[in-house]
Amino acid sequence: MMQKNQLNDTFGRSHDYLRISLTDACNLRCMYCMPNEKVLVTPSAKLMQVDEIENIANIFVELGIKKIRLTGGEPLLRKDAKQIIEKLSYLPTELTISTNAILVDQYIETFISSGIHSVNVSLDTLNADEFYSITKRGDFEKIMNNIHLLLSHNFNVKVNIVLMKGINEHAIFDFINWTKNFPLDVRFIEFMPFSGNAWLPEKVFSYAEMLNLIATKYSFVKLNDAKNDTAKKYKAVNHRGTFAFITTITKPFCENCNRLRITADGKMKNCLFSQDETDLLSAMRKGHDIKPLILSCLQNKKQERGGRFDFENIANRSMIKIGG
Ligand code: GTP
Ligand code: 5AD
Ligand code: SF4
Repeated sequence: MMQKNQLNDTFGRSHDYLRISLTDACNLRCMYCMPNEKVLVTPSAKLMQVDEIENIANIFVELGIKKIRLTGGEPLLRKDAKQIIEKLSYLPTELTISTNAILVDQYIETFISSGIHSVNVSLDTLNADEFYSITKRGDFEKIMNNIHLLLSHNFNVKVNIVLMKGINEHAIFDFINWTKNFPLDVRFIEFMPFSGNAWLPEKVFSYAEMLNLIATKYSFVKLNDAKNDTAKKYKAVNHRGTFAFITTITKPFCENCNRLRITADGKMKNCLFSQDETDLLSAMRKGHDIKPLILSCLQNKKQERGGRFDFENIANRSMIKIGG
């Protein structure tokens, strides 16, 4: 019998999408994600272990979760990532992952056998030198090869591009061009503030500005968006792929939010910007029932962006410690 979704908040939103961060370690150093000061990677014993991830995921599924996305840091850096993916593949949910794609070639068989159909890849430029200056690493070719590997195996690939003024805004045309011959969904993301990422309002390349710039070179049409999509989708005329915008800063999409998050150290966040966290892992390790904790955490979810609008003084984890 179909179970009723119990994950409702006080604003009438029903939550069926869970993002689980597997680690706060990463093999890149993206300027918009990694704080400038040194971040300490959480020691393994403090991370959710394979069975704990499986148990927590199971409980969320009983409460109504229908889609799980694995995030990081870089989720595929975890030595036991294969095991985790395999265990979660038995749940009656869609399983997806957000990755920088550097290690994807080592996991492609696991993705296929675990029923992963869709992979979101972070990549902010199509220029190798610029890639190095944004990420401080030189894995550009590897990422490009792995994106094409995913396409050759018919995965749906969404490419996430954080556009920052004065850094990579011109990359927008290269990415749209890429969609001409490849069935990729490229998504331009407004730069969001997190602890230590030197965010300033003037660095945000806004949805309206991006759209105006694109209109100087391309004819395009608006596509339909699903109710809970983070992205507003478009398609350049005669291109195989699509482009879209994730507009948290200038046009938040909180009204239809269906997402919950768990950090790699097992804390539930009811919003990307929520300041309060509920420690599910410690409670579970003490043998407590975590269902009531999950439900009460959800009752505290704010209407929009964690209830915080003073983005210049944001107090939140850094993005690497949330998982996006
Ligand atoms: P799909 O399930 O394919 O729609 O992916 P997604 O956009 O939810 O996830 P992804 O990991 O690819 O993240 C892309 C961007 O969307 C990142 O910048 C995330 O921080 C942002 N994002 C994801 N979920 C939320 C959310 O609930 N609220 C906000 N404001 N941004 C989000
Ligand atoms: N602003 C917007 N998006 C971000 N991401 C990471 N940091 C930021 C930020 N400051 C995105 C990356 C990754 C996704 C999980 O989160 O593009 O693909
Ligand atoms: Fe949901 Fe918070 Fe994102 Fe708004 S900012 S869409 S409430 S997670």
